[in-house]
Amino acid sequence: MKYFLDSAKLDEIKFAYEHYCIDGVTTNPKHIKLSGKPFMQCVRDIAAWLRETGLEGTDFPVSFEINPHLDQWEEIVAAAKEVASYSKNYAIKIPCCEQGVIAAKKLEEQGVRTNVTLVFSPSQAIQAAKLGAKFVSPFVGWKENNGEDALEYISKIVEIYRNYDYKTEIIVAAVRSGKQIVDYACAGADIVTCGLQVYKDSFEHPFTSYGLGVFRDAWDSTVKE
Ligand code: E4P
Repeated sequence: MKYFLDSAKLDEIKFAYEHYCIDGVTTNPKHIKLSGKPFMQCVRDIAAWLRETGLEGTDFPVSFEINPHLDQWEEIVAAAKEVASYSKNYAIKIPCCEQGVIAAKKLEEQGVRTNVTLVFSPSQAIQAAKLGAKFVSPFVGWKENNGEDALEYISKIVEIYRNYDYKTEIIVAAVRSGKQIVDYACAGADIVTCGLQVYKDSFEHPFTSYGLGVFRDAWDSTVKE
């Protein structure tokens, strides 16, 4: 399973790449706001970092969401192409609505990778696959907050994609816990995207801390030579 970091903060991206084995990055307008930088500066800075680290042109995708007010496919396509021109690694997040679907199809036909986002139903995920999107982002955290079963939802998308050999990669988005990472790995999702803290929490366990204490005590009370 691939791990993507859900953040636009360059220091977090650098840290997670160097230390947490992340395979890519996703951002959204909330993350851009939290980064404290203008949108286009984030686009330029992450592109520069990809070049500096030698990741440019490799399989390390970074998803950017363009202006969500754009609601005609022609303007969505134009804005997406401008952002995509900064890095071969960039995929453009396009909302799963009629104009978004039209725009995403045009973009994929023109070689711009898309990530169909704000996906909340298997039928939306089918449309993303049929138009040839590189990624689809079903949000699980939002569904669970709404009292919906997200595991069955993701399992259905995985099953459908396998039935028809769809190539679109499933990024399970808005993941909030290590348990969810495990659930979606078992369900066969390709990728999860989470904040840095979720990954950190997922590889720690109270028994590991307890065991470390036991072993340290034993070490301290043992003759070494
Ligand atoms: C995914 O691509 C989104 O950026 C993200 O997971 C959205 O959810 P959140 O911001 O509520 O975590």
